[in-house]
Amino acid sequence: MRLFLDTANLEEIREINRWGVLSGITTNPTLVSKENDDPEALWKEILAEVEGDVSLETTEPEADPMYKQGLHLAQMGPNAVVKVPMTPDGLEAGKRLVAEGIRINVTLVFSPAQAILAAEIGAYIVSPFLGRIDDVASDGMYALRQICEIYDIQGYDTNVLAASLRHPMHVVESAIAGADIATMPYDVFVKLVKHPLTDVGLQKFAQDWQALQRNLKGGA
Ligand code: E4P
Repeated sequence: MRLFLDTANLEEIREINRWGVLSGITTNPTLVSKENDDPEALWKEILAEVEGDVSLETTEPEADPMYKQGLHLAQMGPNAVVKVPMTPDGLEAGKRLVAEGIRINVTLVFSPAQAILAAEIGAYIVSPFLGRIDDVASDGMYALRQICEIYDIQGYDTNVLAASLRHPMHVVESAIAGADIATMPYDVFVKLVKHPLTDVGLQKFAQDWQALQRNLKGGA
């Protein structure tokens, strides 16, 4: 399962990138707005910062302007992936972009039925939003498992990207479900590496090593 960071913040991207585990970035209008910067300049910096896929989201609601915006976003870098929403206009624009050889990510997906539509237009990525499904007292992980099973049975090539992940167990369970990609905010990424027993173990190793150094010096 490829690990993506869900952010438009360059410092967060640089920190996770240095770990050597970052395979891509997802952005959305909310994440870009948080950076309070020129979106075009910011997207270019992000595209240059990572080798993997970077999802850039369209904001035009109607199919034709969305398609044209998608063409523009796609030419910003070879690793650009164009996000279109799961709406009739998003499907129309998305299918036209796919016909141009552009890789699209169908976003704001909340059900297996919507995921079937995304696969049928030849999307490169489908993004079910697990956390937001949980927020409305439904089961996001169950929806993800169904989508992965349907894609497997039907032989769809579309990559399933588990999105709106809120904690490390979302990541672990997405991997077990067979998701191709998991995208998560910076704080969830940081929690993946943390374990109290790692901290305790490291502290004990350091203490014992220092004690050895003192003993060796004392014995000399
Ligand atoms: C994915 O592409 C989305 O940007 C993201 O995962 C949404 O997550 P949220 O529900 O935490 O905003």
